Amino acid sequence: MSQQPAPKTAPAPEEAVPSDGEPEAPHLDFQGTTPYEDYVRASVLTHLQHPLSDDPGEMVFLVTTQVMELWFTVIVHEWHTAAQALREDDVPTALEALRRSTYELESLNASWKPLAHLTPGQFNAYRSALGDGSGFQSAMYRRLEFLLGEKSASMLVPHRGAPREYAELEKALTEPSLYDEVLRFLARRGHAVPAAVLDRDPARRYEPDPAVERVWQEIYSGPREGELIRLGEALTEVAELVWRWRNDHLVATRRAMGAKTGTGGSAGVAWLEKRATKNVFPELWTARSHV
Ligand code: HEM
Repeated sequence: MSQQPAPKTAPAPEEAVPSDGEPEAPHLDFQGTTPYEDYVRASVLTHLQHPLSDDPGEMVFLVTTQVMELWFTVIVHEWHTAAQALREDDVPTALEALRRSTYELESLNASWKPLAHLTPGQFNAYRSALGDGSGFQSAMYRRLEFLLGEKSASMLVPHRGAPREYAELEKALTEPSLYDEVLRFLARRGHAVPAAVLDRDPARRYEPDPAVERVWQEIYSGPREGELIRLGEALTEVAELVWRWRNDHLVATRRAMGAKTGTGGSAGVAWLEKRATKNVFPELWTARSHV
């Protein structure tokens, strides 16, 4: 983590134990801030919490939301890496990034724990601090959905007043999704992905296609240890974990506020229920019925 150039060779083990027999303690003296701070920016991160109510439970709501935003950011980064690698026909790099993202999704999902058992009374104690604020307005979550192929131009509207987020979302809307890159890659590998799918407008929501279902059916009917099955399974794992996040969110919401309307203006649980039934990478699920 130090910004100093790394020593060319590691010290010999005996050099790490001075003559008095005690193992060397970490350095204490730095000019200015510590190299840890310079790299991690921990003081910025740990001073971004400004609860608006007197309720002691608001802090964990705020921090959990911030932690999830950070995980969204890492996962978006991984899926960008995977999409880029597929564009270059580099399957090992794509698989590595997708696999990392599944561990990150598991950590993201584990972050529900502190919010999963809120009573309505506990949530009400700070709900008004949110005002009209809602995770629905998360720009990073929207980028994550866009990468999955769940595109929607109307989701840019809330961000019109934030030029950086708007520009990032507009780019994510109009460029091919991770799934678009997967299908283009499968076509280059000789699979019969229809031209209409390959040439589709990437800014539109991906709609399942029977010919793509047949492609996955063919792949899954082939050698069980094949590279393309490994790719299919990595994507299936991603899809399952996204579905789990949505369901954990739904159940936490149902416990915390029943059937009340959401702070973002939706019908609340009824609206989330509808969103949570959708399957990411749809043909990877439906093809299984035919293998
Ligand atoms: C128990 C606490 C929570 C409750 C009661 C809750 C409630 C809701 C509700 C009712 C909605 C629907 C939109 C609306 O009208 O507001 C929503 C959407 C959303 N929430 Fe939460 N939420 C909670 C925690 C979180 C956390 C910690 C995150 C993390 C960032 C989050 C992220 C989102 C996202 C991304 C959406 C949009 C989902 C979509 O577009 O399909 N929520 N939430």
